[in-house]
Amino acid sequence: MTDRVPLVAGNWKMNKSAVEATALVNILAQSLAARHPVCDVLVAPPFTALAAVIEALRGTDIMVAAQNVFWEDSGAFTGEVSAPMIRDLGCTHVIVGHSERRQLFGDTDTSVSKRLQACLRSDLIPIFCLGETLDQRESGSTFAVVKRQLIEGLGSVKFASPRQLILAYEPVWAIGTGLNATPSQAQEVHSALREELGTVFGAGFAQQVLILYGGSVKPDNAKSLFDCEDIDGGLIGGASLKADDFLGIIYSA
Ligand code: 13P
Repeated sequence: MTDRVPLVAGNWKMNKSAVEATALVNILAQSLAARHPVCDVLVAPPFTALAAVIEALRGTDIMVAAQNVFWEDSGAFTGEVSAPMIRDLGCTHVIVGHSERRQLFGDTDTSVSKRLQACLRSDLIPIFCLGETLDQRESGSTFAVVKRQLIEGLGSVKFASPRQLILAYEPVWAIGTGLNATPSQAQEVHSALREELGTVFGAGFAQQVLILYGGSVKPDNAKSLFDCEDIDGGLIGGASLKADDFLGIIYSA
């Protein structure tokens, strides 16, 4: 047995102004104060709303993540945001290697690895995303793809504690499509990822790492996914933008 506390995290992607973001987290904070969930809760607003959300959530248990990070700490990198800057704002986590960054913005296993290392240098916990495309699943290479992403992404990263790493398995074909992986499809990949982590870092370490599932998680399918042995919560896109849906998922955990 382990003492993994599940995490339900909302990835808001490129949605919500600072005013809209504040209104949403105020509702979440009020509900969670009235009825404590058994899981941890995190939101990842766009960069432009981070300061307002962190201010609104001061004194609550809801954690805040950025959606991306550049790997250098400072310098002539127009348009980029560094880990020390994100940490300075009050974020605790960063989403790294999301498939939208890989597919639309050229992120690779190598750049993902540099971002992971930048997080650790600044005491930020990376939520490291990996997952196969539909073609890869249909050609039977799901396990090979996610293991490669895991190994290449982790590279030579050294972790002082399993608490410094969160994985998010997000099959690309399930993101924003309404097609979630079935609990058994998700569980078998989560279990393979935990086994691979065990090979690299030892079984004790692997047992403590949170592995989230992401891809069309909704209030009505969350419980069956979260009930699986190796699924430690979710990374929620569309359904995290509405308080009722996100709270429904949180209370499923
Ligand atoms: P959806 O929940 O909208 O499918 O998005 C999942 C996701 O990409 C979370 O990072």
